[in-house]
Amino acid sequence: MADCILQMRDITKVFGGIVRALENVSIEVRRGEVHALVGENGAGKSTLMKILSGAYKQDSGDIIIDGQEAVFHNTRDATHGGIGIVFQELNLVPTLTAVENAFLGRLEINKFGKIEWKKLRDKFLQFMRSIDFEINPDIPVSELSIADKQMVEIAKALLLKSKILIMDEPTATLTSEEIKKLFVIIRDLKKSGVTIIYISHKLEEVFQICDRVTVLRDGHYISTQEVSQTNKAKLIEQMVGRSVDVEFPPRASCAGNTVLEIDGLFTPGFLRDISFTLRRGEILGIAGLVGSGRTEIARAVFGADKIEKGSFKINGNTVRIASTMDAKRLSIGLLPEDRKDEGLAVDYSIAKNITVTNLKKISNGFWLNRKKESSESEKLVKQLSIKTPSINQKLSSLSGGNQQKVVLAKWLFNEADILILDEPTRGIDVGAKYEIYLLMNELVKQGKAIIMISSELPEIFALSDRIVVMYEGQLRACLDNAQDLKPEDIMRYAVG
Ligand SMILES: Nc1ncnc2c1ncn2[C@@H]1O[C@H](COP(=O)(O)OP(=O)(O)OP(=O)(O)O)[C@@H](O)[C@H]1O
Ligand SMILES: [Mg+2]
Repeated sequence: MADCILQMRDITKVFGGIVRALENVSIEVRRGEVHALVGENGAGKSTLMKILSGAYKQDSGDIIIDGQEAVFHNTRDATHGGIGIVFQELNLVPTLTAVENAFLGRLEINKFGKIEWKKLRDKFLQFMRSIDFEINPDIPVSELSIADKQMVEIAKALLLKSKILIMDEPTATLTSEEIKKLFVIIRDLKKSGVTIIYISHKLEEVFQICDRVTVLRDGHYISTQEVSQTNKAKLIEQMVGRSVDVEFPPRASCAGNTVLEIDGLFTPGFLRDISFTLRRGEILGIAGLVGSGRTEIARAVFGADKIEKGSFKINGNTVRIASTMDAKRLSIGLLPEDRKDEGLAVDYSIAKNITVTNLKKISNGFWLNRKKESSESEKLVKQLSIKTPSINQKLSSLSGGNQQKVVLAKWLFNEADILILDEPTRGIDVGAKYEIYLLMNELVKQGKAIIMISSELPEIFALSDRIVVMYEGQLRACLDNAQDLKPEDIMRYAVG
């Protein structure tokens, strides 16, 4: 029998007496392997790993590490026991710098009672260099890009030198370049004997980097197999419990008149001379590498960033978009890339989060119509298959992917005429992605216009009518007949 470093046996976890997040789940992880953990949103992946890392206590079941029963009362215990975790919801303190975050909770003082910041800073920078990443160590992490934040979270765990390292969706917000680098790091760690548990909704990654894969479904253990003995279709079938043969719904173009016209848009120090149009009933894809200016276009059109020059026309009339208020008044909605910062109030209920952008729709005159608030939220929760016992649950009790769905629901409820979706399916499982594509198709059929930013090229091809390709703040190409294009056609422009 192969050398087993970790066994989790018959783990059960019930939240609030009703949500059975895990039911008698057992897994075995071999020493030095990269072990993938997959399953739909809400399957129990993060909960299982939070138990292993001491963040939650299981109701029953045992954890055995190197043949010894391990009991962790908190994350500190688990850290001492050699367990490191990169949390799915980045766990950084926004007002602190990358260095401060990296060493938070384990600062050492020297014999004069002082923290040696310079030493820590050097250590951090040296470490970042060794893994070929560059991050400004002196500004609050809230000012870093979301990809950089993710790297700080990863670095924080790596600096601990754990024997078992858990990565819960580490690549969700990384660029393809950074993902390549991360995979180099994972291979190096593996060579040095570290065991890795890897959670991802990007099944390609499982086949690229993992040795074995365990599938969870609805809080139950389904299977563990060698990655080389399975394939994507089989995994999806085990994840959703039925066979799924199409990833994208068919789509017929229904583009009409121009609704939005952007002419000669410049932003301070970044976007240069961007012009394009968006038509009613159209999905316009924006492709390009992360950092190429895709998100900046979204933010400029939504009035969130300062504009230097350029004009906007809506339905042929010149309009001013100087603030997000202007944008909302003009019926423009934005699903932001960084959901945690901008999208959600985690202490409020699902229903409140969904309806807050369009209170008019659920009020009659002065009063909120609670019934309508409920029925409208119920509808979206069902449509997007958000996994929750009730719409009155606090958002913080949902799984990562289900929280993402709530942000999306919120913008769908908003009913903007022009909807900008920045990475709409990030962190969302295969089944739910399909539902989201269907909803997008439905919206454009009703005459809305959608701008979709995505790093997933297959998604861009399958959904867009036209594709705009960005490179270093400039619009490099606007391509028709998106469905006939191939990745090469885009990459040619996206890499300059
Ligand atoms: N703190 C909590 N309170 C109540 N319910 C919770 C809590 N944390 C998780 N749950 C519930 O437990 C179930 C499993 O959630 P978990 O976060 O483990 O899913 P996941 O597999 O990580 O999903 P995702 O892919 O969306 O991240 C979900 O139904 C979720 O709503
Ligand atoms: Mg999760």
